[in-house]
Amino acid sequence: MRYILMIPGPVEISDDVLEAFQRHPVAHYGPEWTEVYLETANSVSRILGSKGRTFLMPGSGSVGLDTAAATFCASKRCLVLNGGMFGQRLYNIVSAHASDVKDLNFPLNTSVEPEAVEKALKDEKYDIVLMTQVETSTGILNPVEKIAKIVKKHGALFVLDSISSAVIEKLEMDNWGIDVNVAASQKGFECPAGLGIVTVKQDLLDALKDSPAKTWYTDLRVWCDYYDRWHDWHPFPVTLPTNTILALAKSIETIEAEGISSRQKMFIDISTRMRKALLALGLRLYAPEGQYSHGLTAASTGGKFDPAEMIAFLKKKVGIQISGSFGDIKSHVFRIGHMSRKQCGRVNLITLINGIALFMKSKGLSVQLEKAVERLME
Ligand SMILES: Cc1ncc(COP(=O)(O)O)c(C=O)c1O
Repeated sequence: MRYILMIPGPVEISDDVLEAFQRHPVAHYGPEWTEVYLETANSVSRILGSKGRTFLMPGSGSVGLDTAAATFCASKRCLVLNGGMFGQRLYNIVSAHASDVKDLNFPLNTSVEPEAVEKALKDEKYDIVLMTQVETSTGILNPVEKIAKIVKKHGALFVLDSISSAVIEKLEMDNWGIDVNVAASQKGFECPAGLGIVTVKQDLLDALKDSPAKTWYTDLRVWCDYYDRWHDWHPFPVTLPTNTILALAKSIETIEAEGISSRQKMFIDISTRMRKALLALGLRLYAPEGQYSHGLTAASTGGKFDPAEMIAFLKKKVGIQISGSFGDIKSHVFRIGHMSRKQCGRVNLITLINGIALFMKSKGLSVQLEKAVERLME
């Protein structure tokens, strides 16, 4: 069961985060715990460039998306910018809470285009626009800052799914005009899975007081009520996964000590090396030039072999797990995660490139392994 995870989440985590995760459980209430919770939540807001409030919710990233939709989308006109499987997931989640939802679809191999968004918002009035920062099924990075500017110009709320990009990609919630952001613990925050992380502008939370909750677990009105009334003791409504939050607190300590921009530079550097190495092996990059995400790389076999066969080979012979993709591109696209410091370690990267080369050789393909490893290390 234990393979080195080079998938786009969950990620390999550091020893000190693992240690924090493995301690005996603590009570999820009382002044000591409340201090840990509030400090950790505030640190997340700071990392995301928000003066607003962060909610750490038991569950995966999807509980955060469901919460954003339940709290803000009901009885509103919603537009989902859909560039692939996770854009579609976002559409499905919003549609479960709101009846007036449209999607603006983009081809799988391109990012969301600002001109198309501008046109859609000129043609019709929407209250809320939602988008993923990185479409994890294709490794394509969307131009969040540009889209946010357009959305704000048209007076709508902007909700971002940064589940596979928070910490990894540049993201400045307040400066760019992102009203609600949803992340998760198991990717750029370098922790085990278990938390949906929702960050919201304070004035939006204040405005919620005027309306009753429509559901319970995933309505932030309920979370705000506990935050206000039980602030010093239990500022959230449910039992929290304290070990995951302690792991998150430890990881954040490292992220902040290192500095967010230096970490993001590291992801740009590693993803550039990875793309060059894959090209040197004779593979193709799935994302077009300039639209690459920096925490994962999607590559195409160009029909030379079945990615599923290579993925099985890498697990069995090398002990490394990478991912395939979905739907129409599943037959030729595979994805490599380099979303955490540990995943980005040289030994992991070099071992993986060697494993891919070995597999390609076994298929009778000629590969330039030396060149690929050089690209990785240069
Ligand atoms: C962009 C994006 N959105 C949503 C999700 C769903 O998150 P979770 O599986 O944590 O619920 C994922 C998971 O990979 C994702 O990458």
